[in-house]
Amino acid sequence: MPVRVKVNEAMSRLTNHHDRILEALTVMGRALEHGNPDPNDVHALVQFMQRFVDACHHGVEEYILFSGANRRGFPLEGGPIYVMVAEHGVGRYLARLVEEAYRAWLEGDQNALRDMVDYARMYMDHLAQHIEKENKILFPTLAAHYDEVSATRTIEEVEREHEYDRWMALLENLKRKYGV
Ligand SMILES: [Fe+2]
Ligand SMILES: [Fe+2]
Repeated sequence: MPVRVKVNEAMSRLTNHHDRILEALTVMGRALEHGNPDPNDVHALVQFMQRFVDACHHGVEEYILFSGANRRGFPLEGGPIYVMVAEHGVGRYLARLVEEAYRAWLEGDQNALRDMVDYARMYMDHLAQHIEKENKILFPTLAAHYDEVSATRTIEEVEREHEYDRWMALLENLKRKYGV
């Protein structure tokens, strides 16, 4: 049975994810600012980028809101959804660059720490501008076109599948530690 998803409700849930992601980016900036980051926290942030931001949040966008709008006729080629999905790919790659530099650093490569910080800064800038475009342009555009879209899963199901509660608890711990 297809699931009907209200676009306004999807938007408010995704905007809430964005607020959490922006908090995680602030934590990341603080964790890396003194040149001597805690490896456990870097590892946790890499996992947050890959499993919450990419798998869960981008999963909700791509499996539910974006594909639902495309299937209702919102253009993919040459349109804003195409750009947003391409940016998800760049975000995933930057997260992998951070992960690779992190692994090399753990193995004793001291130059890798600087690479890790540089790639993390690129990731933070990339995600922040991406979120701004979704919040200010794409989401309002989709809401103006459609009241609802259909999907095969609810947002809650995608969140559960990707352990939403676990990532939120991890973020709260990191926010406390770094005063965010
Ligand atoms: Fe996105
Ligand atoms: Fe997003």
